[in-house]
Amino acid sequence: MLLIKNGRVIDPASKTDANLDVLLDGEKIKEVAPAGKIAAPHGMEVFDASGLIVAPGFIDLHVHLREPGQESSETIETGTRAAARGGFTAVCCMPNTKPVNDNASVTRFILDRAKAGGSVRVWPIGAASVGSKGEAIAEIAAMKEAGIVAVSDDGKPIATAKLARQVMDYCRSLDLPVIEHSEDVSLAAGAVMREGVTSTRLGLRGMPAAAESVCVARDVQLAELTGARLHVAHLSAKASLEQVRWAKSRGLRVCCEVTPHHFTLIDEDVQYDSKFKMNPPLAAREDREALLAGLADGTVDAIATDHAPHEPALKDVEFDRAPFGILGFETALALALEQLVQSGRLSLMRMVELFTAGPARVLGIERKIAAGQPGDLTIFSANHSWTYHVKESPSKSRNSPFDGRAFKGGPTATVVAGRVVHRSH
Ligand code: DOR
Ligand code: ZN
Repeated sequence: MLLIKNGRVIDPASKTDANLDVLLDGEKIKEVAPAGKIAAPHGMEVFDASGLIVAPGFIDLHVHLREPGQESSETIETGTRAAARGGFTAVCCMPNTKPVNDNASVTRFILDRAKAGGSVRVWPIGAASVGSKGEAIAEIAAMKEAGIVAVSDDGKPIATAKLARQVMDYCRSLDLPVIEHSEDVSLAAGAVMREGVTSTRLGLRGMPAAAESVCVARDVQLAELTGARLHVAHLSAKASLEQVRWAKSRGLRVCCEVTPHHFTLIDEDVQYDSKFKMNPPLAAREDREALLAGLADGTVDAIATDHAPHEPALKDVEFDRAPFGILGFETALALALEQLVQSGRLSLMRMVELFTAGPARVLGIERKIAAGQPGDLTIFSANHSWTYHVKESPSKSRNSPFDGRAFKGGPTATVVAGRVVHRSH
């Protein structure tokens, strides 16, 4: 048994914000009571959470763990250790591994590895098409049987409207969300950052915002046609957000996520350094403003990191030649506190919702701090000063633009299935 004593429990699902004790027994929450009400029997493990916030376990809807196939960049073991350090208790891993997770045996392999060496829960996402090649639909039903929680061809969009329609039709009947990496590849061809004054100044090929929003518009129309659950991944453009807002106003089952790097940085921050290269690229100032408004007003459902490790040998090359992607786990909460809460834009309750009840809703599950619920908790500080040093990360990769950044507030401890899997201070 583990008693988390005297923390400020913030639980959006039950609209709780109070000083409480949380008792965990085995893998589950056993009791929640006003602070001081649960007596700790001799020998019980006690965690004093005075001055800290206790939230439901954070869920990351969008991560790349690189296993199988690219273990020199990350493994399920190293990636989930980094996730635990970032306060995440469950991560949904994208299928763009080698081989692609497009069949039940790869799904089972990932789940076996996670069980053997994972620090947090791993929920695989299956490919929408065979090899994510955009030609034939993947064996989605068999993968669902094996344990996938959604489908996506992430790294790329589902190649054609015809195939996207077919995938949505199929996933509607299986009640699985379709997660789209929204990109019109003809508009994005050859581009390595957002098109604008900065791309011109740096001499780098840019893609317009429409490279994303054209695909979001396509998929919103198809979600209406099919009745499918559509989730727009790493939404970065104002025009895309407007599509999602319109879809929601029509009552469509459309939702979206935003990454910490897109609500923190803009194209003007891009330096000729591949740590600023990711897809979708850092957007314009007005896009960031729109994302912040969407995070506040409820249009955005979740914060997801798009944790995309690439080993130094691959990433430390010219901007043009480097792969897209940056690390995300360990800076996500601190960036959210800084950009969303300390800036006065969002309440702490709303920020926590974007890491917990929001992503849970996207997956069609419920997560709250109540007796009988899984014993997953994220314990964090809203004001403790610390500096992120990427060299200290358990990740195998080092591709973060936030190395050396000082923060106020961040993860303190991560509890998964009743066990403390990470504790920082
Ligand atoms: O930045 C990105 N990295 N965007 C993607 O769509 C794929 C991802 C990766 O797999 O590295
Ligand atoms: Zn993507």
